[in-house]
Amino acid sequence: MRTVVIGGTGHAGTYLVPKLVEAGHEVVSVTRGEREPYRPDAAWRSIETHNIDREAAERAGTFGQTIAALEPDAVIDLICYTKESASGLVEALRGKVRQFIHCGTIFVQGHGVQVPTTEEQPRNPFGDYGVNKAAAEAYLLDEAQRNGFPVSVLHPGHIVGEGWPPLNPLGNFDPGVFAKLARGEEVALPHFGLETVHHVHADDVAQAFVLALENWGASVGESFYIVSEAAVTLRGYAEAMAAWFGQEPNLRFLPWAEWKQTVSEADAGATWEHVARSPQHSISKAKRVLGYQPRYTSLQAVQEAVEWLIVNEELLPASEFSNRGTKPRVSAR
Ligand SMILES: NC(=O)c1ccc[n+]([C@@H]2O[C@H](COP(=O)([O-])OP(=O)(O)OC[C@H]3O[C@@H](n4cnc5c(N)ncnc54)[C@H](OP(=O)(O)O)[C@@H]3O)[C@@H](O)[C@H]2O)c1
Repeated sequence: MRTVVIGGTGHAGTYLVPKLVEAGHEVVSVTRGEREPYRPDAAWRSIETHNIDREAAERAGTFGQTIAALEPDAVIDLICYTKESASGLVEALRGKVRQFIHCGTIFVQGHGVQVPTTEEQPRNPFGDYGVNKAAAEAYLLDEAQRNGFPVSVLHPGHIVGEGWPPLNPLGNFDPGVFAKLARGEEVALPHFGLETVHHVHADDVAQAFVLALENWGASVGESFYIVSEAAVTLRGYAEAMAAWFGQEPNLRFLPWAEWKQTVSEADAGATWEHVARSPQHSISKAKRVLGYQPRYTSLQAVQEAVEWLIVNEELLPASEFSNRGTKPRVSAR
């Protein structure tokens, strides 16, 4: 099957493209060609690549036709952020593709009501990113149900993998928080530390996309939350990471107004974006319909990514880490 991946060299694509090649797909990756995938893999040498700037092509009204001209059997759109972007592709690909998979986000949910949140529960998106992604999803599922457009929608959680810092126990991306936990230094958490984050390993995201293609009859017209088996609380996450570093957790809890003064404005903003949603999602539909089975728990995924940061000296000097004598080992199920 000839599968076009739009946005194939980022967090999701780095793991997805090699998995598609392994599954026997003829892969075409469309990006601007400005960056390399996070991990090397021989699979990248066997794929076709096209450098196209989506935004510029959309402004010129040529993007959909350009993708259609690649003659795909399937299209995986990893970088669609608005309904207008989605509709440009739908109009160009209608009747021409066997399947179209849109990458959404758990931020389409907004705050949950009954947790873990299932796909059927009403959405409460807020913020431009979540609202626009929810509008794109609603449009695409309507196209599937009303007009038979063969779209499936996958909503990943916070994507984790080797090569970039994972969302940390404060709910932001400052890798220094892991260094503090590794040194046994005090870390302040907002509130009681009981708000949640829901990670997923990029390899499990890739697994879900391949499964959606393999089970197209069951996945078309449906959306799926793609996360690990269980979300973690900020406190539980911080304690588990401290223990992994061989340290006693040294945590302090502060009301939001006080806590936000302890970090930069940007980090406080990122934390707010995550704790205001406190995602906890169910994967029972993905398991039942797709046969999705995440290989990584949230902590296994994060620990593998942190180990990568350590090995590449992006977190602590290697000497400091090896002196600790507690080099943790990570094993995925
Ligand atoms: N990262 C997460 O934690 C997360 C969580 C939930 C959902 N998601 C969703 O997952 C999807 C993929 O996210 P990601 O984190 O993998 O993205 P990413 O790491 O930012 O990667 C974006 C990819 O698209 C390409 N790209 C960017 N701008 C482009 C343009 N104008 N034209 C053509 N190609 C362009 C990039 O390559 P070039 O720069 O070389 O063009 C790269 O291959 C998104 O829909 C996002 O909403 C992400």
